[in-house]
Order: sequence, then structure tokens, then C-alpha cells
Amino acid sequence: MGLTYFKRFRMEFDLANAALPAPLVPPGYELLPYSSELLRQHANAKFQSFRSELDANVFPCLGRRDGCLRLMREITSRAGFVPEATWLCRFRNPESGRPEPVGTIQGLEVEGWGAVQNLGIDPAHRGRGLGSILLSRAADGFRAAGLRRMHLEVTTDNSAAVRLYERIGFRKAKVVYKAADVAGV
Ligand SMILES: CC(C)(COP(=O)(O)OP(=O)(O)OC[C@H]1O[C@@H](n2cnc3c(N)ncnc32)[C@H](O)[C@@H]1OP(=O)(O)O)[C@@H](O)C(=O)NCCC(=O)NCCS
Repeated sequence: MGLTYFKRFRMEFDLANAALPAPLVPPGYELLPYSSELLRQHANAKFQSFRSELDANVFPCLGRRDGCLRLMREITSRAGFVPEATWLCRFRNPESGRPEPVGTIQGLEVEGWGAVQNLGIDPAHRGRGLGSILLSRAADGFRAAGLRRMHLEVTTDNSAAVRLYERIGFRKAKVVYKAADVAGV
């Protein structure tokens, strides 16, 4: 193991701006507001979304199913948890007829800011507007909770995510570094 520093952008969005642009929910998908019965489904969506991604190096818990469940428990039990900004996306599999969790976003209030946590869409469901839709729901939730600004952190090499955030109107505010123990380094 060796300590590696990951370069990340802090990106910010003024919630006084117009509502975030969001595509319509595509057929077959549904969005569910947070409830504690959905905690495991959020964890599963998070695991599928992050298991093969860069951020699983930065935050090793994201690369493990039990780590994602632990993280969901930790986030939802914090004093600043914002359930209104926490959404699950499910896809009704036409073969099984069962709803599968395919996307998640969670919100926290940190020092008066809405802090977006772990937006993730299962790789098989990307490029359909679901990430944009979840961000827009989180923004509405932060607004409903009385917050005026939201921010997030994204690894600078995560170009798909940075592009999405900039297209939606987030601005890069500063660069921060996150230290992580990475196997093989
Ligand atoms: C970042 C992430 C959440 C984006 O999710 P997504 O559902 O693919 O996002 P969207 O579909 O809203 O946008 C992605 C692209 O699809 C395009 N798109 C959106 N709706 C579309 C549609 N109906 N048809 C075709 N393309 C569409 C968007 O314009 C966007 O294009 P771009 O790549 O040129 O920016 C996803 O890639 C992911 O989970 N990554 C791994 C986890 C991660 O790194 N999360 C971010 C942590 S900070």
C-alpha cells in the first residue's frame, strides 16, 4: 500500500439560479424519494455504479458492497442528512418485471451548503439523462430544505462527471487533494 493524493475539484452551484435543466424520466425508469426501507437499494445502486470506477480507489468503501451499505448508514444517520435531496432511480426489468436499483444520490447539509454525495448511475444505464435528473431532484430537495447553495467534490480525471456538472451550471471553485491508500502503489 502507498499513500496517493487524488486531485479533486470542489464545484459549486447557486440554488437561486433557475431550476436545473433535467430531461424527462425515460420509459421503464422510476424515481423514489428517500425512505429508510430503500437504504439497501441505495447501497446496491451505489456499489454497481462505483465498483469499477476511479472513485473506488479514492474511497475504497465504494468498491465493496458492504462498504456501500456502511456508507449509506453513515450518511443517513448524520445530523445534516437531507432526505429531500436523496433519491433512488429504479429500472423495471421487462424480463423479470422486478424493479432494479440503478442510480442514487444523497444530500447532506454542511455549514449551510447542500453537499451532494456519491451521485452514481449503473454503467448499463448511463447516457440517458438519469444522472442529470437525479442532480436536479437533489437541487430541488436542497431548496425545499431552505438551502441556497450546493457543492460537490469530483476527481479531476473523472471527465464524464465534470462535463455533466459544468453543462448543468456548476462552477469549479477550487482544487482539493484527497489522500488515499492505494494497493500496488
Ligand atoms: C457521472 C455519471 C453519474 C453520469 O450519469 P449519466 O446518467 O450517464 O448522466 P447523463 O445521462 O445525465 O449525462 C451523460 C451524457 O449523456 C448525455 N445524455 C443525456 N440524456 C441523453 C439521452 N436521452 N440520449 C443520449 N444522450 C443523453 C448527456 O448529454 C451527457 O453527455 P456528455 O457525456 O457529453 O456530457 C455516471 O457516469 C457515473 O455514475 N459515473 C461513475 C460514478 C461517478 O464517478 N460519479 C460521480 C462522482 S463525483
